[in-house]
Amino acid sequence: MQALMSIKKYAHEHDIPIMKEEGVSFVCEYIKKHNIKRILEIGSAIGYSAIRFARVSNDIFITTIEIDKERYLQAVQNIKDFGLENRISIYLQDALLFETTEKFDLIFIDAAKAQYIRFFEKYKTNLLDGGVILSDNLSFHGMVEDENLKCNKNTIMLVKKIRKYITFLRENTEFETEFIKCADGISISKKRNSE
Ligand SMILES: C[S@@+](CC[C@H](N)C(=O)[O-])C[C@H]1O[C@@H](n2cnc3c(N)ncnc32)[C@H](O)[C@@H]1O
Repeated sequence: MQALMSIKKYAHEHDIPIMKEEGVSFVCEYIKKHNIKRILEIGSAIGYSAIRFARVSNDIFITTIEIDKERYLQAVQNIKDFGLENRISIYLQDALLFETTEKFDLIFIDAAKAQYIRFFEKYKTNLLDGGVILSDNLSFHGMVEDENLKCNKNTIMLVKKIRKYITFLRENTEFETEFIKCADGISISKKRNSE
């Protein structure tokens, strides 16, 4: 669709990281297959993934949080252009400070990689029974699996944080996590007693 193409083009031109087709298709399929209706997204950027998720079905409602004002304003415009303002609620805030008592079927973490453990711990209580937490970019362009990583100091720090998050998920006694080698690496965490 032309309008989705123009969001992708804008993201590319403004160096805004949005989900690649493989990852967004995987999550959309997951939403469809598991009849997900209420989604919390951490990291909206310009609204691309939220719009894709909302378009899976007319009865899906999304809350999404973005810290960057310029991206937030662009997301608001994009959501409006798609006529989705009644189903996508977007907030301009640091997700670590956002407060909600709402419960969700799916929480999608796609924001600052260094904060993934904190996002997970903060929002796990917002899951409905049987709900899941999906996290994106766990492979970080293949760097997480690369034992001989040669890149700048900041990237190495980030990769270490992602590895720490993966260990946190693997050792988590409350949640069971499946790691999907799709797109940039996605994890699916379910509460152990929720089956
Ligand atoms: C990878 S982008 C999100 C892409 C989006 N999910 C998509 O695929 O269309 C990550 C976004 O998270 C935002 N972000 C980073 N830290 C955040 C925080 N603490 N709270 C809310 N948003 C945050 C960044 O500004 C950035 O726009």
